[in-house]
Amino acid sequence: MNFEYTEEQEMIRQAARDYAQRELIKDVIERDENAEYPAEHVKNLAELGFMGMMAEPKYDGGGMDTVSYVLAMEEISKVDSAVGVIMSVNNSLVLWGLEEYGSDAQKEKYIPPLARGEVTGAFLLSEPEAGSDATMQRTTAVEDGDYYILNGTKNWITSGGTASTYLVIAQTHPEKRHHGINAFIVEKDTPGISVGVHENKMGMRSSDTHSVMFTDVKVPKENRIGEDGFGFKFAMRTLDGGRIGIAAQAVGIAAGAFERAVQYSKERKAFGTEIANHQAIAFKIADMAVKIENSRLLTLKAAWLKDQEKSYSLASAMAKKYAADAAMWVTTEAVQIFGGYGYVKEYHVERLMREAKLTQIYEGTSEVQNIVISRAYLKH
Ligand code: CAA
Repeated sequence: MNFEYTEEQEMIRQAARDYAQRELIKDVIERDENAEYPAEHVKNLAELGFMGMMAEPKYDGGGMDTVSYVLAMEEISKVDSAVGVIMSVNNSLVLWGLEEYGSDAQKEKYIPPLARGEVTGAFLLSEPEAGSDATMQRTTAVEDGDYYILNGTKNWITSGGTASTYLVIAQTHPEKRHHGINAFIVEKDTPGISVGVHENKMGMRSSDTHSVMFTDVKVPKENRIGEDGFGFKFAMRTLDGGRIGIAAQAVGIAAGAFERAVQYSKERKAFGTEIANHQAIAFKIADMAVKIENSRLLTLKAAWLKDQEKSYSLASAMAKKYAADAAMWVTTEAVQIFGGYGYVKEYHVERLMREAKLTQIYEGTSEVQNIVISRAYLKH
């Protein structure tokens, strides 16, 4: 077993770290405060090759492995996980889903601009009444000649307002329940699509999250992904990989708060010495370090399994659940170490704590991951 990164993986990690620490940091507090979409940063990350890291070079992707993607995601999310989630949805849900399950014609048409980062993609699964219970799709896709007609509403869609390429999950044969669900590539400027207001979120405020409404939207049949009825499996398999990205994001959020807390504890004095010299703080630092390292190892293991083309559904659920819960705990402890300073915006840790909460919710709550994990052990 080799725990060392390759030279290429280390270079990618360093490039992401440099960009995050030099550029993202400058205006992250204002972006969060104003819920301002990080358009310039998305453009710069595209130039660095980070918007289509794992897509094949023949489609203008970076051809990198999942381990590299995890390392880059950690470094970006240490500073701004709103940028992290835009990158994550584009790479591991939209591009991976298209590359793995799209037809040749679909790949040739849709992957290159997404992989170059000229446009971004969004993954439209959640609905007002279908969050954790994703089989309950109310959005319908009714066959009509050479088209499907889509009607319904999707909620909490990352990049819902800015993306040009939507992957939409909808129900075609309700009597077949989840076996009747399909996935479609839908161009955002198709008539009948309207985008709701930018959600005023608690954290990751600068990524654009919207409801998206479909009213008699005509989608050509050739835009269906896979066989009729493949949509639910498509969504589940795509989310298996997406969860690795969110786990890496949670590692980054926790590690970002940890680095700041360590630094602060060596500078701040109380009771006649730096607070790091008090065991109450030193032991918190130790517990934070262990949880972050556990999260990182679980995440890298899931990424490695995916790169080896081995089964990673269970590993990604474990990584996502553990890393998200750890990030929530670590960031809360970081705020505690900073005391009153931690509760005001300029020290970043309160923002990281708000961001951590979302990693416990999207791409499957911690409870959903528990369903996946427990079933793996309890099924007959
Ligand atoms: N891979 C392949 N197939 C899978 C699968 C997987 N990982 N998980 C389930 N399936 C298949 C099953 O084999 C089963 O198929 P058959 O009926 O043919 O045997 C079918 O799907 C139904 O499976 P379950 O009975 O396990 O389904 P369930 O209703 O009990 O739900 C669940 C399981 C894990 C809770 C699932 O519904 C789930 O993951 N829910 C959460 C959805 C989610 O993560 N939403 C996130 C939205 S996207 C997002 O957040 C993006 C963003 O913008 C950031």
